[in-house]
Amino acid sequence: MAKVPTVDLSLFFREGYEDKKSKIVDTISKACCEYGFFQIVNHGVPLDLISQALKVSKSFFESPTEAKLKCSPLPNVPVPAGYNKKPNPSYEFSEFLIMLPPGSDFNIFPDNPPQFREVMEELFSQFMKIGMVVERILSECLGLPPCVLEEFNNDRSWDFLIALFYLPATEKERIGSNPHKDLSCFTIVLQNEVAGLEVQKDGEWILIAPQPDTLVVNIDDALQVLTKDKFKSPRHRVVRPNGRSRNSFAFFHNLSGDKWIQPLPQFTKEIAEPPKYRPFLYKEYLQKRRESKSKHITRIEDEITISHYAITEE
Ligand code: OGA
Ligand code: NI
Repeated sequence: MAKVPTVDLSLFFREGYEDKKSKIVDTISKACCEYGFFQIVNHGVPLDLISQALKVSKSFFESPTEAKLKCSPLPNVPVPAGYNKKPNPSYEFSEFLIMLPPGSDFNIFPDNPPQFREVMEELFSQFMKIGMVVERILSECLGLPPCVLEEFNNDRSWDFLIALFYLPATEKERIGSNPHKDLSCFTIVLQNEVAGLEVQKDGEWILIAPQPDTLVVNIDDALQVLTKDKFKSPRHRVVRPNGRSRNSFAFFHNLSGDKWIQPLPQFTKEIAEPPKYRPFLYKEYLQKRRESKSKHITRIEDEITISHYAITEE
């Protein structure tokens, strides 16, 4: 049975150990090419914060609908921060709460449980921190100096965090999140002990089995374009378990919407290869994806993806 590798990041918080680090970099590179997914342990996010965040989030989603609806997003905001429960092709049987960076004027947090805001703001900051560590490692995985992605992508204000809650499967329907690709740079997922996240590889669905104290990382669309398909944004889904609810967090290490996205020169100009994608403004892509979601696209081939910007050779 194929298995997405898990790597220990503890050495990346220390100087030295270059040989060992380069072995880990190799394992991650291989995982990014084969699956677009890997798991990390000893990532530095405090373990008691992880268990507290899962507990606080579950308790919010299990509160009465009326209380949850009080956290509905403000009207006419660029991102619907707050509690969302509406039919959406990707999230039919889940409820979710979107959070923007701590301090954002648009964030809407519930009053109950009382520690919700504090725990989520801390989780957000910790995810930002580990995101920057992962970004440096991914740069190395691509054969680039560690700071290349960070220098391209130095605006953290577009990052966002989603707390997700999936209802138990019904006899008729088990899908919790339809097959999709994530649109940012990469995603860090924290899942509770209830399995359900799967990645598609060679036509098969492979379970990303939950492991204690472990975070999941997957490559997203923007990084696929920047690396000119060296890393691929994997199609994944969530299947709901029987008889239990599942809760998770997805943190999107994003890019500024004002960035023009196209393969980095290291993958084109410097090796005299064609760029494969035409440049596009990142927020235009975000907008197109949002529009396609609201249209209830059911056929996968109709979905807007980065292939929209691919240059087809005559
Ligand atoms: C997502 C996602 C996985 C999960 O939110 O894009 O794929 O386990 N989430 O909830
Ligand atoms: Ni996803």
